[in-house]
Amino acid sequence: MLCFSLYLLLTLLFSCWIIPIRAYRKIKKNGFVGPTPSFPMGNIREIKNNSKNYVDDSSLGSSGISHDIHSIVFPYFARWQKCYGKLFIYWLGTEPFLYVAEPEFLRKMSSEVLGKNWGKPKVFKNDREPMFGLGLVMVEGDDWVRHRHVITPAFSPSNLKAMASLMVEPAKKMIDKWVTLIDSDKPEIDVEREITTMAGEIIASMSFGLSYQNGSRVFEKLRAMQITLFNSNRYVGVPFSKWMCPKKTLEAKRLGKEIDQLLLSIIDARKSCWDGSSPQKDLLGLLMDGSHVDGRAGKSLTTRELVDECKTFFFGGHETTALALTWTLLLLAMYPNWQNQLRDEVRQLIGDGEIDFAKLTDLKKMEWVMKEVLRLYSPAPNAQRQAREDIQVDDLVIPNGTNIWIDVVAMHHDPTIWGDDVNDFRPDRFKDDFLYGGCKHKMGFLPFGFGGRMCVGRNLTMMEYKVVLTLMLTRFSFSLSPSYRHSPSILLSLRPKYGLPLLVQPL
Ligand code: HEM
Repeated sequence: MLCFSLYLLLTLLFSCWIIPIRAYRKIKKNGFVGPTPSFPMGNIREIKNNSKNYVDDSSLGSSGISHDIHSIVFPYFARWQKCYGKLFIYWLGTEPFLYVAEPEFLRKMSSEVLGKNWGKPKVFKNDREPMFGLGLVMVEGDDWVRHRHVITPAFSPSNLKAMASLMVEPAKKMIDKWVTLIDSDKPEIDVEREITTMAGEIIASMSFGLSYQNGSRVFEKLRAMQITLFNSNRYVGVPFSKWMCPKKTLEAKRLGKEIDQLLLSIIDARKSCWDGSSPQKDLLGLLMDGSHVDGRAGKSLTTRELVDECKTFFFGGHETTALALTWTLLLLAMYPNWQNQLRDEVRQLIGDGEIDFAKLTDLKKMEWVMKEVLRLYSPAPNAQRQAREDIQVDDLVIPNGTNIWIDVVAMHHDPTIWGDDVNDFRPDRFKDDFLYGGCKHKMGFLPFGFGGRMCVGRNLTMMEYKVVLTLMLTRFSFSLSPSYRHSPSILLSLRPKYGLPLLVQPL
C-alpha cells in the first residue's frame, strides 16, 4: 500500500510539476516571457478576474456599438499583449501555452509542419471529448489523414449542390414563423435564437437525413452539453479540475453517452437496410459509401468513428454558420446601405422565385459581406495546436509538446496589418482583394483556420449562408431593436451574449 501511494505521489509530482516546468524552461530558453503563473491554477485566476472586471457597457444599448471587440472578448490577452507583445507564454493550470497573434511567426511555424503532424492540445481533448470524441477536429496523425480522406469528398461542390435543397425547407419554415409573429404584432424577433434553431435543423437533415423532430433530440442534448461544459468551465488544465465540479463532469458524460446512443441507432438502422447500391444523399450516407467503396485498408471509418464525425458535423456545423448569419443581420441592420445593396444583388441575379443554386456563386457582394463579418465577428475566435515534434522557427525552437493558442480575434482587429480603419465595417475591402481583403499579411485573415487542417465545411457554410440570406432579404427588412445590448462573448464560439433582437418588417 505504501509503495502504491508513493508511486501515485511520484506520478502526480512528475505529471503536474516536473513535466510542465521542463516544458516551460524549454520554451523560455527562446526568450519568450509572460505573466507569472501560480501553482496549480497557472494564470486562470487572472483570466477570471480580468473577465469579471471588464465593464459590461452593453447597458448603453445599440447606440454604444463598437466593433473593436478584442479587449471585450479577451480582456486578459489584450492586457498581456500590452506588456509582452504578440508572442508570450501563459498557463492554463499546469499547462503552458504559447500565445500567438503574430502572423509572420505563424506563417513560418506552420510552413515547418504538415497537417498530419500537428496535434491538438491534450487538455482540450479531454475537456471536449464528450462533444467531438475522436472526430476530425480532434484526431491526429495517420488517423487524421484517413478521416480527412473519407470526409473531404463528401463536401465536394457536386455533393453539396445535391444537398442544397435540404436547406430551403427549414429556412422557409422559419420565415413563415416570422410572418406569423409580425402579423400578430410582434415584429421584434430574437434572430439569433431563431437562426440557431434553423441551422440545427439544416445540419440534422444534411448530416443524417433527420427530420427536425428526431434531429432536435440530438440537438437539445448537444446544446445542453455545451452549456454544461463551457458556461463556467475555466479550470481547464488544472489537475483534478474535473473533480472540482463532479456534477458537471458526470452530466456531460451522461449527455455524451445518450447522444452516442441516438446516433448509433441511426447508423445501425442505415446499415441494416443498405444494400450497397446508391447511398442516401446526406453526409452520413456519403461517409458510409466512401468507407465501403474505397474499401482499401486504412481508407474507411469504423462505426464509432462515424458517430464521432456526426457529432462533429452537428456541433461544428450549425453553430458557426448560425453565428455568421446572426452577426451579418446585426451589421446589415446597422448599415442599411449594405442591406439594400445585397437585396438589389439578389433581385438582379436570383430573382424572387425559387433559388437556382448554380447562380449562388455570382453573389459577389454577399461574399464580401460574409468575409467582412467573419473578420469582425469571427465565430471561431481562436485556433489551437500542440507541437508533436520540435519546430524550428528561424533561430527559435518550439519544443515538442508545446501547446499553441492562436488568437484570431486579435489578428482580425490588428491595425498594423489591416490599417486604421480596421474596426470599420467595410465589405468593399474584399472587392479589390477577394481573398485577403487588403490585409498586409496572408496569415492575418483566418476565419476558417490555416494549413492542412483548415475547415472542411467552409463550402457548405458559404452555400447555406447564401441560401438563407437570399430568402430572408427578399422577404424582410431588418433594423436594430432599442432593446439590443451589444456584448459579444465567448462560449466556445463568439456569440451575442443577450441574443440579437431585431425589428423585422415584411417588404
Ligand atoms: C462560418 C462557419 C464556420 C467557421 C467560422 C468554421 C471555422 C473553423 C475553424 C477555425 C476550424 C479550425 C481550423 C484550424 O484549426 O486550422 C474549423 C475546422 C473544422 N470545421 Fe469548421 N467552420 C465553419 C463551418 C463548418 C461546417 C458547416 C462544418 C461541417 C458541417 C465544419 C466542420 C469542421 C471540421 C470537421 C473541422 C476540422 C478540420 C480538421 O481538423 O481537419 N465547419 N472550422
